[in-house]
Amino acid sequence: MPFKEKSLIFAPMEGITDIHYRETILENYPEWDFVATDFLRAPSVGPYPVKHVLKHYGKSSYEDPEKQRKTIYQMLTTEDALTEDTVSKIRDLGFKWLDLNLGCPSKTVCKHRGGSFLLSDLQALRKVIKTIRSHFPHTFTAKIRVGYKDDTLFKDILRLLEDEGVDAITIHARTRDEMYKGVAKWEYVKTAVETVKTPIVGNGDIPDVYTLPFHNLKFNLSKEFGKDNSSKISLKFENILNDKFESVYQSFGAQDQIFSSRYPGQAISLGYSYQF
Ligand SMILES: Cc1cc2nc3c(=O)[nH]c(=O)nc-3n(C[C@H](O)[C@H](O)[C@H](O)COP(=O)(O)O)c2cc1C
Repeated sequence: MPFKEKSLIFAPMEGITDIHYRETILENYPEWDFVATDFLRAPSVGPYPVKHVLKHYGKSSYEDPEKQRKTIYQMLTTEDALTEDTVSKIRDLGFKWLDLNLGCPSKTVCKHRGGSFLLSDLQALRKVIKTIRSHFPHTFTAKIRVGYKDDTLFKDILRLLEDEGVDAITIHARTRDEMYKGVAKWEYVKTAVETVKTPIVGNGDIPDVYTLPFHNLKFNLSKEFGKDNSSKISLKFENILNDKFESVYQSFGAQDQIFSSRYPGQAISLGYSYQF
């Protein structure tokens, strides 16, 4: 098992989980066990210079051992791209966790036979996985969808990844054609756990806890008086409606539940100040 059970892993998101976003999460929310870069696309012609591979990850996370330990390097490739070269550079920089993106639904990526396209061509998928596995001795994981057009190859894909020595599989429980629509079907996560022994990470429509609006109606009154307005009297009311703080737990297939509820109470204060 490459990580502890029930680890909390922040999903990679191109254009969102850049170095600044990831470091903000790592510095402020230590409950997250891991974060991930978005995907570095292996080039088809002309290998990347090492500094490009490092830049994708971000120098400050690279130079901080704890941030490096908690940051997964994600890549995306195709059967014909420079997989071996890209993986070797990631390995030689010292990264210990490489994730392969097999879920990207983008038309351009799929047209070039990368991302979720590989879920429809198991021969090409095996070739790519073998190449990465034989050049990356540390944790190597794959992030998949349940299939390309449909789920018919789902179990074959899981077994292939297991046979080729992938250390864990993240399942975004939608097909490629579903893109990000509808709800992720977590039954597939269960099926995966029952099909292979490889650790499975569930992804998609994770339950949410959010705070309902809090109607804190306030009233402030102050009056200056006396010689040179040196005296001031003030009156304050807080939470006139006596509203409560409430947060709600929301999850697919379950009824919304109140997660926490408390009355902060009302407050009245009367003040007097004098300026000498
Ligand atoms: C804007 C955006 C960018 C994404 N970029 C990536 C990516 O670079 N690599 C990846 O594996 N998944 C990527 N994903 C997919 C997410 O990691 C995740 O699998 C998907 O959003 C399902 O989770 P959700 O239902 O909680 O949004 C991206 C998703 C979004 C919305």
